[in-house]
Amino acid sequence: MYLCHKKKMLSSTDFIPQPYAETIEKGSFSASAPSNIALVKYWGKKENQIPANPSLSFTLKNCKTITHLHFSKIQFTENFSFELLFEGNPKPSFRPKIELFFERIAIYLPFLNEYHFVIDTQNTFPHSSGIASSASGMAALAFNLMSLEKALNPAMSEDYFYQKASFLARLGSGSACRSLKGEVVIWGNHAETERSSDLIGIAFESIHPHFHRYQDTILLVDKGEKQVSSTVGHELMKQHPFAEKRFEQAHQNLTALKKILTNGELTEFVQLVESEALTLHAMMMTSLPYFILMKPNTLEIIQKIWKFREQTAIPVCFTLDAGANVHVLYPENFRIEVLQFIKNELVVYCQNGQYICDEIGDGALFLN
Ligand code: PMV
Repeated sequence: MYLCHKKKMLSSTDFIPQPYAETIEKGSFSASAPSNIALVKYWGKKENQIPANPSLSFTLKNCKTITHLHFSKIQFTENFSFELLFEGNPKPSFRPKIELFFERIAIYLPFLNEYHFVIDTQNTFPHSSGIASSASGMAALAFNLMSLEKALNPAMSEDYFYQKASFLARLGSGSACRSLKGEVVIWGNHAETERSSDLIGIAFESIHPHFHRYQDTILLVDKGEKQVSSTVGHELMKQHPFAEKRFEQAHQNLTALKKILTNGELTEFVQLVESEALTLHAMMMTSLPYFILMKPNTLEIIQKIWKFREQTAIPVCFTLDAGANVHVLYPENFRIEVLQFIKNELVVYCQNGQYICDEIGDGALFLN
């Protein structure tokens, strides 16, 4: 007789804690968490921040949020008690998002109703640069909240800490669950990825040295507010005529990309990454209502990258997130040539000539 040792699937109830061992009156924690850039894109979601398809991202290093969380014990309160400071000043416009986040996670962190919090946060990337700070912001806050939970339950394992931080971050902003740990992170059930889960991001570690310190130069084409938010975009995938085919393709592309990352096949990498970026925007253009987030300069840059690649055979490529900015991706050993090309030919298409040099990083950090 065989005994089947099938691993138990992770479930939300795994993150509901037992009564805490310790009590703490007050204190503070600090953390930084980076942004991430998806290569296989998440676009479309179900209830409770469950993705419609699996995704894979590179974790960034320099674009990050730094958050200090101060807490002091109060009587149980139905309404959450918190102050929010962004770059040292109160930021009322961020409150609803945090309020909603706390509502969603209160069942997993019952102490939320028993403390007053001061959330003091800042980003390393320029203010309203068009770079979404929700991934890094939610990841940094979730990480700090887990530091507090760990202080209340010191027996917590490191694995559980990171899994739950990712689980909580996802409930703040889907892609935030990919900003906790690992240079390359996969989020979403994928038949061909062991331990993959719709609930958390997991690190993918079989990465070829060609991707070591892979560069991402972010060209800031349009720093304005997006006309259509990601939330609306995800929602539009529900009645999208091509949705099923797209979700199927994301599964296949993830299988292919894992192999590419392991074998270091840069030509295949370029093709798959650009195809994913354009597919994301094709989904936007074929939604009802339809919309376009790329700007004329986005297309100018793409054309220039294609021309430069053809002329030099340097495996530089682009990806896009839900906006007009262009992420230029390339191996570290071509850094000098590509940066020169960016300065000579692409900076003219950036708003105020602005761009950010970043590279693969490995996730969130404790700062105290
Ligand atoms: O995490 P959200 O809801 O902001 O959605 C992110 C969507 C994309 O950035 C376009 C793709 C992705 O996988 O990050």
